[in-house]
Amino acid sequence: MPKSANSSPALHHLAIIMDGNGRWAEERGLPRVAGHQQGVRTVVEIVDECVAQGISYLTLFAFSSENWGRPQSEIETLMALLLEFMASQRQRMLDDGVSLRVIGDDSRLSDEVRTALRNAEQDTASGSRMVLTLALSYGGRDEIVRATRKIAQRVAAGELAPEAIGSADFESTLDTAGLPDPDLLIRTSGELRISNFLLWQLAYAELYFVDAYWPDFGPVELRRALDSYRQRRRRFGLTAEQTAEGEGLSNSAS
Ligand code: IPE
Ligand code: IPE
Ligand code: MG
Repeated sequence: MPKSANSSPALHHLAIIMDGNGRWAEERGLPRVAGHQQGVRTVVEIVDECVAQGISYLTLFAFSSENWGRPQSEIETLMALLLEFMASQRQRMLDDGVSLRVIGDDSRLSDEVRTALRNAEQDTASGSRMVLTLALSYGGRDEIVRATRKIAQRVAAGELAPEAIGSADFESTLDTAGLPDPDLLIRTSGELRISNFLLWQLAYAELYFVDAYWPDFGPVELRRALDSYRQRRRRFGLTAEQTAEGEGLSNSAS
């Protein structure tokens, strides 16, 4: 059933699992690093397109807590590409009003990478068009465990009663404190899984899986995903009738 345009759900926060760099390269007989290099170009294009689309929050899964188990040479390549990205995109982020934020366990990063990230966060802090969050050395379970530890410390210090702990305490303690939950999650490369990304925050996200490898994903594919999202009807556990009322529609479109 066609839906009226004004019933499209709002999209504030887009999250993306950028997957398939390695396979993109291997299928071309290239080393995996070539796929990661091409993947960085896609990041630049997609950031631009998201700014153009008026998306306020973009979160990219760049390196997972499990990715530390990859060969050391691949990890080093990825960290070098990250440093290059920070250096080459700094001015562009400033010009475009993009403020950078990094989530994940930064204690595992080298001093050089950590410093570059903190500097980039500080330099771009006043950007008000879009918050670009990079999930780096990030795992959803790890994030929840770290948040739980902090909450437990408040309980041990007598600042918080165990029975008073609520969702809001987690939301304000997770790495993503202050960010709205993602509305849409895109994963490239045809894999149909979450791979430990934003486990808490994705509770009600719409999911979109696409076969294209990340280096082949571009503005056209992104717009296709956004179009698909606009056709969705989000219910958050309520009935269709209730959510139609919530959207301010005078009548359900049944
Ligand atoms: C995504 O591409 C980038 C990272 C996980 C760092 P992959 O490197 O996972 O590429 P595939 O999945 O092996 O093709
Ligand atoms: C998820 O991709 C992590 C990132 C995109 C950074 P992986 O390639 O690590 O995930 P799996 O191993 O296919 O689940
Ligand atoms: Mg992968």
